[in-house]
Amino acid sequence: MNLEKLNTVANQMTAPGTGILAADESAGTIQKRFDQIGLKSTEISRRDWREMLFRTEPAMTDYIGGVILFDETLRQQAADGSKLVDVITAAGAVPGIKVDTGAQGMAGFAGEKTTAGLDGLRVRMQEYYQLGARFAKWRAVIDVDAHRPSAACVTANCHALARYAAICQEAQIVPIVEPEVLMDGDHSVERCAEVTNWTLKHLFMELYMHNVALEGIVLKPNMVVSGNKCSRQACIDEVAEKTVTVLKAMVPASVPGIAFLSGGQSDIQATAHLNAMNAGYELPWNLTFSYGRALQAAPLAAWSGNDVAAGQTAFAHRAKMNSLASLGQWNAALEE
Ligand code: 13P
Repeated sequence: MNLEKLNTVANQMTAPGTGILAADESAGTIQKRFDQIGLKSTEISRRDWREMLFRTEPAMTDYIGGVILFDETLRQQAADGSKLVDVITAAGAVPGIKVDTGAQGMAGFAGEKTTAGLDGLRVRMQEYYQLGARFAKWRAVIDVDAHRPSAACVTANCHALARYAAICQEAQIVPIVEPEVLMDGDHSVERCAEVTNWTLKHLFMELYMHNVALEGIVLKPNMVVSGNKCSRQACIDEVAEKTVTVLKAMVPASVPGIAFLSGGQSDIQATAHLNAMNAGYELPWNLTFSYGRALQAAPLAAWSGNDVAAGQTAFAHRAKMNSLASLGQWNAALEE
């Protein structure tokens, strides 16, 4: 493993003013997204949608440092026969690959999940490197209520994340380590803070035990928000303050970049929260976005299956707003 090179890639993916486009929806998830515009998911429609995003300027050249791909897209060609990976690289962004095979129910713990995909991963990782991937992603999901998560769920998920991260680094691929504490439910923002704290504490212990070099990872956490059915919704400044407090307590300064998932927040909320953290606090890491829905919802509606110009205009706008938020320079008036 060449740690200096891993560190360079991790910094490139999260450099101030840039963030990550999560375009790694599985076959089932992309169909759910396309249902919103009444489009059938086929290999061609998935290609057209993603190619439209990857060819958007200046979003890709100026605001996106990395793109997370699904296996199919890493191997796919653009309409003109060039490789989509080359389109991304030519724009100056780093291609990455989702390598987990999904969250599955955990035996003995109703409602809780662990993420599958470690079997054979060491071999698959070699191929992904050959195909051009320079980073990977693995998502663990932690469900929250008064009694969940169980210690078994937190432990199993963090253990799998650490084993995955070690395999990535051995293959010279930067692991995005994503422990997502879900915002679904009526739990309070304080409960989200408590569970996020616990999860990150356990995660960094597992990363340490598995000899994962923190200088060569990107952390992809949730923000500390109120559950989406909670009667009291924390305001922007409270989300920023609670998230920064948890991260400062739990994430070593040797981690080069933290890139948040959007997790079901609206586009503008996700931007406003990121901005408040970067504008209001001195932080030891690059703090940016790795959004799926919060970057893609507006361009998907504008594109609607064939309007490339409208889709690209909407994507360029959202990417620019989040770029500004990563610098703490966004304000609501810029959305007009
Ligand atoms: P969302 O931003 O839509 O939560 O997706 C990010 C992601 O990559 C989830 O794994």
